[in-house]
Amino acid sequence: MMMATTTRMLRCVSLVSIVIFAVFVSECSSQRSVFDPVHASIKNDIAQRVELNIWCKSKNTDFGHHRLTYGAKFIWKFKINFWHTTLYWCKMWWTDVNGKYTEGSYAIYKAKRDWDKCENECNFSVRKGGIYRKEMYNDDAYDLVYPWPKRLVTK
Ligand SMILES: *[C@@H]1O[C@H](CO)[C@@H](O)[C@H](O)[C@H]1NC(C)=O
Repeated sequence: MMMATTTRMLRCVSLVSIVIFAVFVSECSSQRSVFDPVHASIKNDIAQRVELNIWCKSKNTDFGHHRLTYGAKFIWKFKINFWHTTLYWCKMWWTDVNGKYTEGSYAIYKAKRDWDKCENECNFSVRKGGIYRKEMYNDDAYDLVYPWPKRLVTK
């Protein structure tokens, strides 16, 4: 009698642990984890024959100056820090075919703002209208993160 109850209890415990283990494994193997690297990219989608200049930094990394031809991408990878204060900052500038110069400096990636928006894959598209972030689970949908600064009209 005692033996049968113990056996049943053991079976139950092992079933519960299998369930917990399965949930744990699927959590960990899921693409969406703050412990996994974030793949980020910045793409020049401005216009044919327009080169985009970028200079991105974080507190600990300086990526230096990069020139992106139309359609080219700058890609980097990082892990979100414990405090979720991970931040990448970029200066971007370009001159259109008519010689009009535009520049801006932006917090391109902020863990607190962007984790919920793009999780482990954050692709940014730089366009005439500003800097856009690709939406998750929604092909070809982009959200405007920053417009370019208004031009100062000086005389
Ligand atoms: C983001 O960019 C990477 C690298 O170019 C690409 O492999 C991936 O498919 C892109 N993801 C989305 C959701 O567009």
